[in-house]
Amino acid sequence: MKVIVTAGPTREPLDPVRYLSNRSSGKMGYAIAVAARESKHQVVLISGPTTLPAPDHVEMVRVTSADEMFEAVHAHVPDCDLLVMCAAVCDYKPAQFSSSKRPKMRERFSLELLPTRDILLSLTSRPSNCFVVGFAAETQELEANAERKLHEKNCDLLIANDVGREGVGMEAEENEVTIFFRDGTYQKLLRAKKSELARDLMKIILNAREKRLTKKT
Ligand code: CTP
Repeated sequence: MKVIVTAGPTREPLDPVRYLSNRSSGKMGYAIAVAARESKHQVVLISGPTTLPAPDHVEMVRVTSADEMFEAVHAHVPDCDLLVMCAAVCDYKPAQFSSSKRPKMRERFSLELLPTRDILLSLTSRPSNCFVVGFAAETQELEANAERKLHEKNCDLLIANDVGREGVGMEAEENEVTIFFRDGTYQKLLRAKKSELARDLMKIILNAREKRLTKKT
């Protein structure tokens, strides 16, 4: 089975030395890639810039911007059985890239931003056996937002984490997540190291995928 995992942040360049990004460390995505590999699957890890070492026996695809991540996912999706979109893809990019460093502005100034393409939303023609797992990083109304994203982004399952809490979520070693399923049920996984959580998540994801496949036949 071919598993694609996306991880880390993206960087949206403003000029040769500046970019917009977010606090994602990539730890959760890398842990999921390792867990998928431990389950003996072929794993492609599409990673934004992180300081993490490449996991063993995993094909690494390194990207920088949301556009590059979009292209990399689309290149791998046609023969993919499971896609886990763990990356914190930037929602906006600067409208203009300056090839030389922008001089300091002494006055207040505004930066024009353009929305990036939503990768999950763009996967309308993915293979029917490609099970898609989305992530949701929330600071408020976790349940309502997660339910909405699960359906709007046409995911088979969505994993939500509260990134506003101390000690879990972005950058942290530990995480605590709630998994939302298409049948309206959800399951909470208590706070644990990301590596342990990733193993449990992989089992739950593979189970849910199996269930969906058996339903179809
Ligand atoms: N995602 C994506 N393409 C984007 C932005 C996000 O595929 N351009 C994916 C993420 O990888 C994640 C899911 O969408 O699996 C939800 O991401 P999240 O940041 O929680 O939600 P957004 O859609 O960005 O909405 P908001 O920022 O308003 O919460």
